[in-house]
Amino acid sequence: CAGRRLAAPAVRRASSRARTMPVVEARKVAVLGAAGGIGQPLSLLLKMNKLVTELALYDIANVKGVAADLSHCNTPVKVTAYTGDAELEGALKGAELVVIPAGVPRKPGMTRDDLFNINAGIVKGLVSAAAKHCPNAIIEIISNPVNSTVPIASEVLKAAGVYNPKRLLGVTTLDVVRANTFVSEARGLDLKDVDVPVVGGHAGITILPLLSQATPSVTFSDAEREAMTKRIQEAGTEVVEAKAGAGSATLSMAYAAARMAESTLLGLAGEPSVFECAFVDSQAVPGSPFFASKVQLGPEGVSQVLGLGTLNDFEKAALDAMLPELKAQIQKGIDFARK
Ligand code: NAD
Ligand code: LMR
Repeated sequence: CAGRRLAAPAVRRASSRARTMPVVEARKVAVLGAAGGIGQPLSLLLKMNKLVTELALYDIANVKGVAADLSHCNTPVKVTAYTGDAELEGALKGAELVVIPAGVPRKPGMTRDDLFNINAGIVKGLVSAAAKHCPNAIIEIISNPVNSTVPIASEVLKAAGVYNPKRLLGVTTLDVVRANTFVSEARGLDLKDVDVPVVGGHAGITILPLLSQATPSVTFSDAEREAMTKRIQEAGTEVVEAKAGAGSATLSMAYAAARMAESTLLGLAGEPSVFECAFVDSQAVPGSPFFASKVQLGPEGVSQVLGLGTLNDFEKAALDAMLPELKAQIQKGIDFARK
């Protein structure tokens, strides 16, 4: 799911782009949940990103050590550490981008929705603080279940009177990263050329790779298409089972979130033609107030939500099948936040 610039690794793209770009203003990025399995490698990748000037790390535990460690890397990004409610304001003040990987991960046998009871409250609290201390920041939510945590965030921001749908995104980049990897492996394609849009949501059958819109064009038999779609939908579970109780995807997620953050910062810096898939406030599908779609990123955040394009019969059926589940998960988040 990408424009012309999304096939290569995020960090390499950031460096080469930054060299050719006009002066970039100071960019403070806050990572909430920075000491966790995703937070640590994500923070490392952001410390290596020339578009970032300050990296504010926040966690309820262990973050001072992570920041001390990271701050010794001789890249220009200034690293600051904050812990506990009293220090959250410091992490958020002046942040232009807030990335949230705070929350518990799955164990084998769990669905992402099983995380709702813990993570819903965590996201609600953190987004309330962002609404207060950096109301204009772009917020990118990684914490699961994304299909519910993003609607929670939108309700919190609405209640605070600062909701801007262009500045709230659920991070579904990992689905695209996986789809690109699996399709390129299956067809022997050079990874840098492969781009598969993934739409819908971020859980089970709500993850819908649009293989018919892959670049370059690839053909699959019905059985191959079904198997590839299922592999992409179940890739998170594949990692959860392989980790056998030690959590879910962290390294690939950090890579994906770093790519998303970089694209967002490039958009903010005025770079044209920056596209990613993300779970956003959307009218792409009637009756679903949020939907993961290809979006264009610009100075205002999401500058455009692109339509779904032409779906084949398999994709149309998969879209119809996912909608009741997706809508229910969105509504669950909305109801929780309004309680
Ligand atoms: P983890 O347990 O390793 O780390 C979570 C971190 O959040 C911990 O350091 C914890 O102290 C911190 N935390 C908890 N409550 C907090 C609060 N109120 N404020 C700040 N920090 C807080 O978990 P992880 O593997 O990093 O996964 C984090 C979340 O990301 C999980 O919900 C997981 O399901 C989700 N995830 C999403 C995707 C995606 O594609 N969107 C991919 C992988 C994981
Ligand atoms: C993923 O897709 O890897 C994440 O959503 C984590 C999970 O629980 O599968």
